[in-house]
Amino acid sequence: MKFTDIHGHYAWDIDDGIQTMPETVKALRIASQQGISHIVATPHMCCGKIDQDNRAILMKRMESFKKLAQRYSIDVTFGCELMLNQKIKDTLAEDLFIPIGKTPYLLCEDDVRKKEPDFIEVFDIYLKEVIYAGYKPIVAHVERYFHDDIDLEFIRYLIDMGCYIQVNTTSILGLSHAQHHKNALKLIDSQLIHIIATDTHQAEGTRVPNMKECYDYLLKKGYQERYIHLLMNENPKRVVNNRTLLTPHFHSTKKLFSFLK
Ligand SMILES: [Fe+2]
Repeated sequence: MKFTDIHGHYAWDIDDGIQTMPETVKALRIASQQGISHIVATPHMCCGKIDQDNRAILMKRMESFKKLAQRYSIDVTFGCELMLNQKIKDTLAEDLFIPIGKTPYLLCEDDVRKKEPDFIEVFDIYLKEVIYAGYKPIVAHVERYFHDDIDLEFIRYLIDMGCYIQVNTTSILGLSHAQHHKNALKLIDSQLIHIIATDTHQAEGTRVPNMKECYDYLLKKGYQERYIHLLMNENPKRVVNNRTLLTPHFHSTKKLFSFLK
């Protein structure tokens, strides 16, 4: 199985992701071992806190990262993880963001440290601005915004609005907060998810390129292979190829008799 990882802070010395080139090399080796053949580099950008000079520096570093990844036969597409706030309109108007390649897909996030009501009260307003500007928001690591039980109705509302939902491998694998793990599995069980990605920040530790580990974990949990394939292979490829993402509609997310395992 080959994977496309649409969310990762692999390019060094940009944000809170990987800090040095040797660590990036190590992460690329792991990515290759994990079957990742295509990475979307998504450094953090924050509305209102970036100018054209910063954007140019990011692009230059991503060019260097792309050259490095070629040594490991990994394709790289440029993007960003845009933190939305009240400055979103200006950011869109001034082109101070990086959509994924030449597609209208744009990875968007809110501050995970916020209390849930803030997330629910304002985030959809910012996402609507992204949609009005002609972009297709992919909402990053949705499971991390809910510090108590996830509000699946709110997620359904975001999807109906035109958003796509991304969940982190680390949350699925239970390597972050227990609530994030529960939220991630609820999203998978409810089929309110389009894409799984690593959100790699490290070459060692928990936030590493662990696509295959996650794939194997979900298979072992009894989920249908074609469902996991959709989330980890088909839809991520569709993003970079600028094709419409498929919304899961499976009669059952789990294999028959998976409860016997
Ligand atoms: Fe991220």
